[in-house]
Amino acid sequence: MVPLCPFLYAQGVREKEDNMCGIIGFTGDLDAKEVLVEGLKTLEYRGYDSAGIAFLADGKIKTIKTKGKVEDLKKKVEETSSDVTKCGIGHTRWATHGGVSDINSHPHTAGKVTLIHNGIIENYQDLAAEFALEGIKPVSQTDSEIAAMVINSFYEGDPKEAIKKAVGKLRGAYAFCVMFEDVPGVIYAIRNGSPLVATHTDEGSVIASDMVALIKYSKDYFVLPEHKIATLTNDGIVVDDLDGNVVEPEMLHVNWDIAAARKGGYDYFMLKEIHEQPEALRNTIMPRIKDGIVDFGEDGVPDDIFKKCNRIVIVGCGTAMHAGLVGKNMFEKLLRVPVSVEIASEFRYADPILSEDTLVISISQSGETADTLAAVRLAKEKGATTLSIVNVKGSSIARESDYVLYTHAGPEIAVASTKAYTVQLAVIYMIAFRCAMAKGKAGADEIKDLVNELKKTITCVENVIKYDSQIETISHMLDKATNLFFIGRGLDHALSCEGSIKLKEISYIHSEAYAAGELKHGTISLITDNVPVIAIATQQAVYEKMISNVEEVRSRGAGVILITNAGVTVKPQLCDHQIILPKMDDRFAPFGTAVILQYIAYYTAVHRGLNVDQPRNLAKSVTVE
Ligand code: G6P
Repeated sequence: MVPLCPFLYAQGVREKEDNMCGIIGFTGDLDAKEVLVEGLKTLEYRGYDSAGIAFLADGKIKTIKTKGKVEDLKKKVEETSSDVTKCGIGHTRWATHGGVSDINSHPHTAGKVTLIHNGIIENYQDLAAEFALEGIKPVSQTDSEIAAMVINSFYEGDPKEAIKKAVGKLRGAYAFCVMFEDVPGVIYAIRNGSPLVATHTDEGSVIASDMVALIKYSKDYFVLPEHKIATLTNDGIVVDDLDGNVVEPEMLHVNWDIAAARKGGYDYFMLKEIHEQPEALRNTIMPRIKDGIVDFGEDGVPDDIFKKCNRIVIVGCGTAMHAGLVGKNMFEKLLRVPVSVEIASEFRYADPILSEDTLVISISQSGETADTLAAVRLAKEKGATTLSIVNVKGSSIARESDYVLYTHAGPEIAVASTKAYTVQLAVIYMIAFRCAMAKGKAGADEIKDLVNELKKTITCVENVIKYDSQIETISHMLDKATNLFFIGRGLDHALSCEGSIKLKEISYIHSEAYAAGELKHGTISLITDNVPVIAIATQQAVYEKMISNVEEVRSRGAGVILITNAGVTVKPQLCDHQIILPKMDDRFAPFGTAVILQYIAYYTAVHRGLNVDQPRNLAKSVTVE
């Protein structure tokens, strides 16, 4: 047994991964029940249908699980168990196979094996049929219990051998933490796709889906390489390949601390993360500015990839894809190179036309989104150069892309993305600036001016954050809405898409983002008395056209919230409320506008009494197709 110490792990293997749900395992000197429940609370944003723990007590593995939130699990644990335990595993679920119920909650047990699982076992029905032939029936409807049955069927006293044989039969994505009843104090873990990070300290060994659950114990950790088995004991963590050779994973370090993973006095993580945007922008932008221009030297991104690209494709999902829509505008204006923005889940099955002179930029906060990861793999296969914009260090998309530019937003916990979006905008703008210089499309002076404007977005966002109470009041206009529209032109249309998704996901109000000029070709028929329209009119070049579109909806009875840049006055009848950005170069208005839209979504959800951080049916990191 080699104790795991950070300095023992210099360079390691870089591999792929994928996920959903939150998992944690602990063995050591601490109260394991407490470690697990506390850990699950930090991981709850990954899934919150149900939760459970299993732990070793009196020589037996005991399981406590329930549908509902981690808080419900905590109560159940307090009410039903006075056991003292130093070793256990815990899970918070986002249901994929099998409905939300106590029985389908994890952990699952089969014989001597108890496990938690994150991922999807695609061939579980075939495997279940094999067991059925032998008269063995699962008690739940989950694919995960079948995995436990497979491991148990191979278990003859050697846990690693059983796991090794079992994974040979499983198809799909998984991260497993497994306990064997007759091997007390030890947790085994393996993964394919779904993420697992681990660390060992004087207090014991801990493994989890995400660094937010480890930060309480250490800032140093490693990503468990795929298809390797981690053996966790109080003394250390050993990682073996499937042939039994010890491997040394690469140690990583995070530069944020536990405060970043806590609400710190805010009602919701989303509000905290809105407020963290100036710092996130500063951390993302400033280290990359040298002599007034953008420098990616320390990121290892060479100018060659920009010089040789004749086409740019941006891929992502949800908010990340919306950041790409804003980026397209800046790229095309500066570079005159065609840019397309693709929804990753469509792109991967569309047989896209890519070649060696295509630069594929993927954007992902988590770096784990399955469709975005698949898009990156496809782009590489087709010979394109891949550059990713990712927030989570060491994540799959970061590791598999040719080049990566990290955003430095710190952990984003709320399901609705806020700070990750504005830093994605910042990085994509910086790429456009560097690319324009590399291609000789812009001189150093022009880039310096642009960089200055970019730096001003930090103060702009700081100022817009102070609109807090103004927007809270205005948002009451949406309290009773069932349907609404976000409209804008050009960049403001891209922002409309983001405003609309933000509002939908946390307030459950149906909304549509529409290009303002397109409304009259059908959709304007939905505008009747008091239907709210959030009109974004920050772009001087299309301002008058935009105002005409606002007049059109206003004259049909719409209730209008109008967002404009500073320096324009509108006639009072045009809108119910005008929200005015601090004076910004139009091209940089999206940063401030984004904050306004985030606040509108946030306060609307709060006014409707909803759980802002954990909207129904959603999960933060989506790695199913
Ligand atoms: C989920 C989240 C969204 C996010 C999207 C892409 O749907 O709820 O907020 O924009 O995934 O996630 P990524 O981690 O790739 O940015």
